[in-house]
Amino acid sequence: MRLIVTQLLQYARPTEYAGYVEAVDVNQVLENSLVLVAHLLARTHIEVVRDLQATARTGINRQELQQVVINLMINAIQVMPEGGTLRLRTRDREDGRAGVLLEISDTGPGLSERVKERLFRPFFTTKNDGNGLGLWISVGLVERYGGSIEGLNRRELGEDSAGASFRVWLLTEPLAPQEGPTGPMEARRA
Ligand SMILES: Nc1ncnc2c1ncn2[C@@H]1O[C@H](COP(=O)(O)OP(=O)(O)OP(=O)(O)O)[C@@H](O)[C@H]1O
Ligand SMILES: [Mg+2]
Repeated sequence: MRLIVTQLLQYARPTEYAGYVEAVDVNQVLENSLVLVAHLLARTHIEVVRDLQATARTGINRQELQQVVINLMINAIQVMPEGGTLRLRTRDREDGRAGVLLEISDTGPGLSERVKERLFRPFFTTKNDGNGLGLWISVGLVERYGGSIEGLNRRELGEDSAGASFRVWLLTEPLAPQEGPTGPMEARRA
């Protein structure tokens, strides 16, 4: 509850809460977030599959990105009560734009057209105990850094299995060039 309220306040008054922006390794954020949802994973038979190939970093507030990832992971876990596969993928953008793709996929029922249209609206939920705020807050956080989120069915991505896939598109870090552990980073302004 405290986390939700804090995020809501950040959303309503972004200038007062503007987070510290740094060059963030999305793979590391995924790993850290997994630790935080481990208690939920332990209750089900969900297999976690990692395919983390992004090398670029993204300019964002680490805690805010973690909040987004946790929201997406919890949604994925909630649609697989009988178990399934949680797949985490990261890629450097391949379309020539400087950026990183972070994708969280499940093997749940997927998204109906009706749900897909409403995903990012505040208070839209199909759950008995949902607030319908997770995705709305998440998209707000990501857009502030020039990113975006899309919700798709895995079949729309050419895959042969049911389930949803949430793709978070982030910009390559817009800070001054720095040396990271993986070598010089490309710095580009959004
Ligand atoms: N991985 C998913 N598979 C299928 N439907 C999803 C998935 N993620 C989100 N949805 C749909 O989108 C709705 C909105 O999601 P959102 O995270 O914003 O709210 P919530 O999970 O219902 O509640 P809250 O996150 O506030 O606890 C969900 O109620 C569900 O209908
Ligand atoms: Mg949610």
